[in-house]
Amino acid sequence: MSGFRFESVTKTFGNEEIFRELSLQGAPASFLCVVGKSGVGKSTFLRLLGGFDQAEKGTITIGGEQVTRPQKKCPMVFQSYEQLFPWLPVWENIAFPLRVIGVDKSERRNRAMEALQAVGLEQDAKKYPHQLSGGMKQRVALARAWIAEPQLLLMDEPFGGLDMMTREVLQDLLISLWREKQWTVVFITHDLREAARLSTDLLILRENGSWEMKKNELSQPRDPYSAELNRWIREIEL
Ligand SMILES: Nc1ncnc2c1ncn2[C@@H]1O[C@H](COP(=O)(O)OP(=O)(O)OP(=O)(O)O)[C@@H](O)[C@H]1O
Ligand SMILES: [Mg+2]
Repeated sequence: MSGFRFESVTKTFGNEEIFRELSLQGAPASFLCVVGKSGVGKSTFLRLLGGFDQAEKGTITIGGEQVTRPQKKCPMVFQSYEQLFPWLPVWENIAFPLRVIGVDKSERRNRAMEALQAVGLEQDAKKYPHQLSGGMKQRVALARAWIAEPQLLLMDEPFGGLDMMTREVLQDLLISLWREKQWTVVFITHDLREAARLSTDLLILRENGSWEMKKNELSQPRDPYSAELNRWIREIEL
């Protein structure tokens, strides 16, 4: 697992400063949540870290190496999970990266089944993407991450489109996979309760390039409706 680091990173679009002199460190196996109002630069932050865009100033490193382009070991998970191939069953979708590197079919099937079991979808291996609900698609996304063995997992509001109950179940699943696999995760959300539950660290982005880092030392496991968690949320100013 790798950590990452932003050193005095300034990003602008035209005259608009997205963040100014952003410096922070994500330790290996940490869970950074990024919050802030719409349009403030959350997705931009993730794209820079993923190597999909460049900053005007400063350096970004993952595992000590400077990020200059997208990396295989840093998969992205989005809200609308449209990256599935509609003509392949779930297990083949998940195992697709293995097919590309020449892993044979029985080994692919074994690894895919292991991943599907980890996310509770072993019954659905043979279904096609159009037969899945939103929550199931996000489980598939997590199974893909499992197979990819990510150095750093980048998630842009992955549970944004889901109802509250499905969302909480998937948060629990993500927490247990993160613990087991010791993933380093960067997770964007506009839901402070979700950030309070998941994060070890919080990045708050604000207008005009300003930002703030905050530690999350709430005790585990985290009841999403506890007084302690509510207090922590109330301290956050967006
Ligand atoms: N490629 C681009 N060219 C010019 N401006 C951009 C580009 N990408 C993003 N922006 C601008 O940068 C700002 C931040 O956008 P970004 O998508 O990072 O916001 P966000 O915090 O993810 O918002 P949301 O919560 O709505 O997803 C916005 O004002 C947006 O218009
Ligand atoms: Mg966004």
